Amino acid sequence: METKDDWYNVELMTQHAFWNKHHLGCDEHYLVHKLRKDKDYLPELSRIAVKEGEVIGCIMYSKAKVVDGENTHEIITFGPLCVEPKWQGCGVGELLLRETMNIAADKGYKGIVIFGEPEYYPRIGFKTCDNFNITTADGKNFDAFMGFELTKDSMKDIKGKFHESEVFVNLPKEEVEEYNKRFPKLQKLRFPGQWD
Ligand SMILES: CC(C)(COP(=O)(O)OP(=O)(O)OC[C@H]1O[C@@H](n2cnc3c(N)ncnc32)[C@H](O)[C@@H]1OP(=O)(O)O)[C@@H](O)C(=O)NCCC(=O)NCCS
Repeated sequence: METKDDWYNVELMTQHAFWNKHHLGCDEHYLVHKLRKDKDYLPELSRIAVKEGEVIGCIMYSKAKVVDGENTHEIITFGPLCVEPKWQGCGVGELLLRETMNIAADKGYKGIVIFGEPEYYPRIGFKTCDNFNITTADGKNFDAFMGFELTKDSMKDIKGKFHESEVFVNLPKEEVEEYNKRFPKLQKLRFPGQWD
């Protein structure tokens, strides 16, 4: 589990893992910072990976909901999940996932719903949310929108629209720029595969 002394290194590692990956630069390190203070953050499920004193991975969980008219189902989501670039592909991501999914199951959570890499999560057992009668808040389903039942059939009775914490949708660019000043400067570069 992360302590306050790890905060800077967790954010630095997160910045390295996401920098220029989906956009010019990234905002996930700022998300980590915001999430820690958010009412929906679940520190009891969140974990970091440390090798010889160096933070090399992290996964952060938060409360989420599936809303079906009057009914609200409590579920969980995670993000960011990331691994320091030089340690990617060594099983750290899978280790963080499996350990935390076991903890979440033991604590009685029913399911996890995420937006994530559609090529990565199915190997851990994630399925697209159309398998669970769950859509995005605006009624969509697509490959990157996936879910996982923490025990057998535990999302069988859950259907509706997925809503993650507000913290995910409110990361103003100016705040991210200001926050970047706390870290060594990195260059923003265009790469194929970025979303915008
Ligand atoms: C995605 C990520 C968390 C995976 O963690 P990891 O420790 O590198 O992955 P693991 O070692 O557990 O798994 C490695 C396997 O997953 C595959 N893999 C890793 N990242 C992948 C990706 N983005 N898309 C598809 N496959 C991926 C590897 O090719 C490897 O496959 P192989 O076993 O067949 O060789 C990590 O690569 C990362 O931090 N990436 C940058 C940030 C990011 O995209 N986070 C996820 C956002 S949803």
